[in-house]
Amino acid sequence: MKPKVLVTREVFDDVLEYLARHFDVTSNQEDVPLSAEELAERLADKDGAVITLSDRIDEALLARCSRLKAVCNIAVGYNNIDVAACRARGVMATNTPGVLDEATADFTWALILATARRLTEAEAWLRAGHWQGWKLKQFLGHDVHGATLGILGMGRIGQAVARRARGFDMTVLYHNRRRIDPKIEQSLNARYVSLDDLLARADILTLNVPYTPETHHLIGAAELARMKPNAILINVARGGVVDDRALVEALKQGRIAAAGLDVYENEPRLLPEFLELKNVVLAPHIASSTESTRRRMAMMAAENLVAALTTGKPPNLITD
Ligand code: 8YV
Repeated sequence: MKPKVLVTREVFDDVLEYLARHFDVTSNQEDVPLSAEELAERLADKDGAVITLSDRIDEALLARCSRLKAVCNIAVGYNNIDVAACRARGVMATNTPGVLDEATADFTWALILATARRLTEAEAWLRAGHWQGWKLKQFLGHDVHGATLGILGMGRIGQAVARRARGFDMTVLYHNRRRIDPKIEQSLNARYVSLDDLLARADILTLNVPYTPETHHLIGAAELARMKPNAILINVARGGVVDDRALVEALKQGRIAAAGLDVYENEPRLLPEFLELKNVVLAPHIASSTESTRRRMAMMAAENLVAALTTGKPPNLITD
């Protein structure tokens, strides 16, 4: 008998075909997000699962799914998985590192440019029929070229963001848990500074850290107060890294100039105040969403599941 697996959200057909060669596959191609109860019920008789960010894998769920041997996230971030609880129960957990770095860095730049140049605000105004003609002071924005870019989190994605800054002739500063190899710093023309310095000096601050207990509300009221009044904050990392309520206040009071956001606390129910603010550019968690990248992520998760259940050695086992 083939092992039984669940695919919790809609994926591409070739991913299902690949999985079906190895497993008895149940999939949620209707793409309705599963509640914690539904997920536990559907996983109770499964050996493995391809999951996404919207599926919480914690001790309460694992306790009800004794057959489960592997959960394979279609995401590089894995804050939806209690890795220690998985390890304690011998459940392998995997993610999709590497394949989404470039797409996510591209999108970071999409948000940087759209936010600094007020693109979505101007477009909404034009579409609403307000444009009567050219004006010298129309939608004055902020220069991106020549500005100081601050990168908080200099892993693979942060480095891909830094590489793109060269073309904009920027000063690149970064902060990271650990300073990166000086040779890489040199190749990126990036300088390591303290978090305090980064906050105080960045014209554009981009967050590229994973979400962990240590990075919860890493940017809160105190940090926002340290930033320049003309600074722009970009978050493509995770909701929860930023204290959204503090950010709303800072944006309302002009303590920073603007923000470009792809992620929020309590997605998809973002704070309604964000929708009222003109100085934010809002995206629905799509930084990795290009056709080729999402295909690669989904296939990588499927390959991890096949390796986990056939060899016990998935290539992208989460080890921390
Ligand atoms: C995913 C992401 O699309 O990889 C991540 O960590 O945030 C996105 O690329 C999302 O997590 C879906 O599971």
